[in-house]
Amino acid sequence: MRLRNSFQEKHIQDFSKKFDKSLLSHISKQNSVDKRIKQSMCYFVKTGGKRVRPFLIITMGKLIGIKAQTLNDFSLAVECVHLHSLIHDDLPAMDNDDYRRGKLTVHKKFDEATAVLAGDMFQVLSVKTLVESKHLLPREKVEAIQMLSKANGLEGLIAGQSLDIYMKKKSSIKDIETMYLLKTGALFSLCFNLLLTVKKLNTQKRKELKVIGDTIGKIFQVTDDMLDRWGDEKKVGKKINKDSKKANIAYKLNRLDCLKYLHDIKNKNFKALQSFFSKDNNSLTYLSSLVDYIANRVK
Ligand code: IPE
Ligand code: IPE
Ligand code: MG
Ligand code: MG
Ligand code: MG
Repeated sequence: MRLRNSFQEKHIQDFSKKFDKSLLSHISKQNSVDKRIKQSMCYFVKTGGKRVRPFLIITMGKLIGIKAQTLNDFSLAVECVHLHSLIHDDLPAMDNDDYRRGKLTVHKKFDEATAVLAGDMFQVLSVKTLVESKHLLPREKVEAIQMLSKANGLEGLIAGQSLDIYMKKKSSIKDIETMYLLKTGALFSLCFNLLLTVKKLNTQKRKELKVIGDTIGKIFQVTDDMLDRWGDEKKVGKKINKDSKKANIAYKLNRLDCLKYLHDIKNKNFKALQSFFSKDNNSLTYLSSLVDYIANRVK
């Protein structure tokens, strides 16, 4: 794939318009006598969202020569897991948030029962998307679903969400990092690991890809936590300062130390990208500027 020099926000904005259309049509095509759940799922898709995970899958996948249709199915599946996690995360039993992306959360727009079921259905749809993919071989499907279940389950997101809710505010940075790697990192790593189901890479490259995914996940969650403490509520689109009593890196370190912490993870990420792309400077420039966007985002 030919790359424009460095990443610009417009690239992901243009991408997300196309992606949202395909996600909405994917949901609408699901057969059901019930209209309510599909309606609430479409409502949530239409509230926007950055679509960072799909964009990472498509960008990295194209760079290593994977077919666009396969990448499309991967990105739909991963975004469905993410959307499930957000709808449930906002429920009164979890973070109890009324706004996300500047719009009412699903349980506020509809009701709690609808939000629980819409979240469940996004989970189901993530697996269904892979099972019914016309662009994966049976063996690739099994491997992809196995990876997705692992990242989404007790070795990933669900465990991380549980740790997050019950973790004590004074927990160590190491414990907080473990929680971040599970609740957020697992899904980011999945974006890269799924590519391995259809593309053979040597052990070294697989290792580098793992570091790339893990560090992007960490960068993403640290940035989210910093936005909770120092962000602009209007831009962030969700209530801020709600993590002050929680285990959160931005309430543990001051702003300068947080930025230094972020800088160190970014360095680790850059080194892994450098080894992965070797002499391919264009890809390195593009991916590292995309990581900069993730680290400097205001929403
Ligand atoms: C928010 O994720 C939840 C975290 C893992 C921090 P995003 O910031 O990707 O949410 P949207 O989809 O862009 O709204
Ligand atoms: C959410 O972390 C991680 C998920 C798996 C959804 P947060 O609870 O900090 O995410 P926001 O701030 O509500 O988006
Ligand atoms: Mg939460
Ligand atoms: Mg939350
Ligand atoms: Mg947060």
